Amino acid sequence: MAVDLLLGLQWGDEGKGKIVDVLTSNYNIIARFQGGPNAGHTLVFNDMKHVLHTIPSGIFHDDVINLVGNGVVIDPVIFKNELGKLDDQNIDYKKSLRISRKAHLILPTHRLLDAASEIAKGKAKIGSTLKGIGPTYMDKTGRNGIRVGDLELDNWKKKYRALANKHERMIAFYNVDLQYKLEELETEFFKAIETLKALIFIDSEEYIHQALKKEKSILAEGAQGSLLDIDFGTYPFVTSSNTTAAGACTGLGVAPNKIGDVFGIFKAYTTRVGSGPFPTELFDEDGETMGRVGQEFGATTGRSRRCGWLDLVALRYACQINGVTQLMMMKGDVLSGFKTLKVCTAYNYKGEIITHLPYNIEEKNVTPIYTEFNGWNEDLTKMEDASQLPKELNEYIAFLEQDLDIPIKIVSVGPDRKQTIFR
Ligand code: IMP
Repeated sequence: MAVDLLLGLQWGDEGKGKIVDVLTSNYNIIARFQGGPNAGHTLVFNDMKHVLHTIPSGIFHDDVINLVGNGVVIDPVIFKNELGKLDDQNIDYKKSLRISRKAHLILPTHRLLDAASEIAKGKAKIGSTLKGIGPTYMDKTGRNGIRVGDLELDNWKKKYRALANKHERMIAFYNVDLQYKLEELETEFFKAIETLKALIFIDSEEYIHQALKKEKSILAEGAQGSLLDIDFGTYPFVTSSNTTAAGACTGLGVAPNKIGDVFGIFKAYTTRVGSGPFPTELFDEDGETMGRVGQEFGATTGRSRRCGWLDLVALRYACQINGVTQLMMMKGDVLSGFKTLKVCTAYNYKGEIITHLPYNIEEKNVTPIYTEFNGWNEDLTKMEDASQLPKELNEYIAFLEQDLDIPIKIVSVGPDRKQTIFR
């Protein structure tokens, strides 16, 4: 048995949560492998919207194990809030939720450090979600972090105090205007730790290894998107983890030869939240329409997302790095009503026409070259079968499939579980 992966191919917010939820009935285990509460995975079913930040998107299905892997960073306070929302809906997660002992904890001071760093950067800020992601991964690689398994040891509070004190000195060093009351944050944090401790902690790599031996099916759920990957994204405007396929190996302890299908999720256009280059970004009515119709607001921060045409140069790159075997196109319905659609198929890079993603895609270096397509007017949101899709959309899809040489297996035509067309 192999582990299938599901990943975002753009700058996040592709709709991974919805597709994981749709695919969960095919799997025994859903496992998050990186990122943390910077993610906001939105699921819609039975006329209700659910937003998950750290908990895997299979949690609403009975008989499925939901695993938070070692590569994830957990903020106990946000985690507790998420559990509270599940309690409100009588979702019984106590037996189905497992947490890796090797996952790192986001401390209150990590969040403060994130804020201090962003203030200090001024105009050059990353546009972080301010959830403490960067500082927590810095402590992980700096070998200073506190892990979930530490909570089972007697001396963890001593370790916590030493780290929090060090963070306070670092915050002071930034010398920025940041008001905070650490005592209040810590009271909330320690309460949330008790909630966390009531859950099942496991040696998740061993758990996955045994599950594979027993022929259990596993889906690894990515967070953020490939262009936010710490190594392959638009550095430094990226997140602090490997959001690409390799991240699933290190974030779960799965060997590369145990990876099966790689499902790549992309929007029929492009969005980005936070700072950083975005060659196909639109500043006109078309971009405004995409944002309004697509309700492009961050599920975690509420910030409006920047919108633009589909960037096939970037999409090719993401498919290549991840070894995508099947594509899923989201939000095709948002493009209904555009007379002409554009897809960026190449860049004019410093005067040269290129079709791969170069080192630097800043605006001054890159001008997108577009291929145009006829739009369609039909409302896709009520469609249930691939045979109903308009001819122009089929042409758009066929062009992408041919260029990427990967089949588009799902076309999503709305946020609800039911608005999913299989091809
Ligand atoms: P951080 O991960 O909070 O440090 O944010 C770094 C960059 O990644 C910022 O531009 C964020 O807006 C972006 N980012 C982080 N998580 C997500 C996500 O789940 N969706 C979209 N963008 C994200």
